[in-house]
Amino acid sequence: MKPTLVIRELASPNEFLESMEVSQDAWDFAPKMVSPAPDLVAGAHAGGLMAGAFEGKRMLGFVFGIPRVNLGEPCQHSHLLAVRREAQGRGLSTLLKLFQRSWCLDHGIRLVTWTYDPFLLKNASLNLGKLRARARRLLPNFYGEMGGIYGHLPSDRFEVSWRLDDGDVERAAAGDPTLKRPDLEGVPVFRPRSEKNPPRVLLPFPAGAPETYKTDPEGALKARRVFAKGAHALFSAGYEAIGVGARADGPAYLFKKRGRVS
Ligand SMILES: CC(C)(COP(=O)(O)OP(=O)(O)OC[C@H]1O[C@@H](n2cnc3c(N)ncnc32)[C@H](O)[C@@H]1OP(=O)(O)O)[C@@H](O)C(=O)NCCC(=O)NCCS
Repeated sequence: MKPTLVIRELASPNEFLESMEVSQDAWDFAPKMVSPAPDLVAGAHAGGLMAGAFEGKRMLGFVFGIPRVNLGEPCQHSHLLAVRREAQGRGLSTLLKLFQRSWCLDHGIRLVTWTYDPFLLKNASLNLGKLRARARRLLPNFYGEMGGIYGHLPSDRFEVSWRLDDGDVERAAAGDPTLKRPDLEGVPVFRPRSEKNPPRVLLPFPAGAPETYKTDPEGALKARRVFAKGAHALFSAGYEAIGVGARADGPAYLFKKRGRVS
């Protein structure tokens, strides 16, 4: 019989060490890019959360966040979320993020931020589609070159805000089947030089990352530059990315003017 899956805070220094194995497996990083266990112990000690998904004694995934103090309200910055390759696609990252949400609410925290590579459709679907976080900023080459699954590309990152007590976030967390994902149908694609200022626009990005970072690094880099220009223009014009979807010619983000009903 398969051991039961449990999501819980880590309980020993050895479990923090095991998280390094999980990171290595999930990101395929060189050893110098893997977050060291003692740093994670310190982060958790100082008010962060380090939680793992365990099947028996084996850690299959984990989420790690640190207290964030520069946004004017209690906040966690979720730095790492990783699931071993063998266990991906089983819903573990969703369970880990929902555990993080409950833990934060129990600790008086209503806002969680994190960053992710906007070309990764899986992560975009999890963050914007499933969890209902919103992307509000593009951080160019945030970590420098990372290697591993990210190859040699600049590490441009979307920064997302997850407002834990937002109505849609609550409904998504409760698994409300009537909560629909935003519809991309009929929404115009963003045109940088257009005079028009539609309430919703699409910003396309190439399919196939992170594999294409290895198979077509030049194409990926070119696409990064075009995407970054569009994203910067939209964020500075007051838009936020609220959804992601696949169209016939590839995936795209749905951007909406902030302050309007979704
Ligand atoms: C990103 C990662 C954490 C996802 O973990 P996971 O446990 O496999 O994800 P889940 O099974 O919980 O899937 C969550 C959602 O992601 C999306 N998703 C998962 N697999 C997908 C795929 N192949 N294509 C598109 N979306 C996908 C879906 O929205 C899914 O929810 P749904 O199936 O209910 O629609 C994992 O792939 C990973 O460790 N990747 C490498 C490290 C990383 O990118 N970490 C996060 C960024 S810092």
